Amino acid sequence: MQKITIAIDGFSSTGKSTVAKQLAKHLGYIYVDSGAMYRAVTLYTMQNGWIDKDHFDVVALVSNLSNVEISFKFNPNLGFAEVYLNGKNVEKQIRTLEVSSYVSKVAAIPEVRYQLVKQQHQMGKDKGVVMDGRDIGTVVFPNAELKLFMTASAETRAQRRYDELIERGDNITYEDVLKNVRERDYIDSNRENSPLVKAEDAIEIDNSNLTLDQQFEKILNLVNTRLDNL
Ligand code: DC
Repeated sequence: MQKITIAIDGFSSTGKSTVAKQLAKHLGYIYVDSGAMYRAVTLYTMQNGWIDKDHFDVVALVSNLSNVEISFKFNPNLGFAEVYLNGKNVEKQIRTLEVSSYVSKVAAIPEVRYQLVKQQHQMGKDKGVVMDGRDIGTVVFPNAELKLFMTASAETRAQRRYDELIERGDNITYEDVLKNVRERDYIDSNRENSPLVKAEDAIEIDNSNLTLDQQFEKILNLVNTRLDNL
């Protein structure tokens, strides 16, 4: 059976990665969480003391980009690939609110995007890939056979993210999470380099009122229609 490339874009916490993982598992495709790659570069920047609330040493980051090695390794217990930064599993560390609060700034740097997009091309070169992010259908794989654009209200997304973080034991408030969601929406949509926009040929899925099962069924139908029409 022929394989396709599936690009899933959208704002933060719209459930892109949940559906992308479900699809990849169902189809036997590779799943790539491109946001995790930007998060790993952000963690690297933080670990080196190049970013905090008051400063961001872009020059130091850019001149050290060649020292950042990001890879994914499939974890059979979880059923998806976890992200590694310079050989170390950082899957948990990259999901904190602190990383979330800096990642949009790091992702706005053209050299960072250039480097990561190059790696993403490599990961998807044989098709059979589901990649989620902000610029997958517009920049990374403009010829993807299926492009989805996920949306949901900022409040719905903040509530989902808040529930996730609380379950992990983080000590945060819903208001902080909502503020972070809104800030990231703004920066992600307004940056000069590859802003988040819906590709013209992307299908918009608003999942504010869909259960995970309903969403998966709807998207799987789109995939099957696309595969039937190859
Ligand atoms: O999907 P996420 O929330 O884990 O993404 C983290 C950040 O990375 C998000 O604020 C925007 C950025 N990002 C990006 O600029 N381009 C991508 N393809 C994926 C993520």
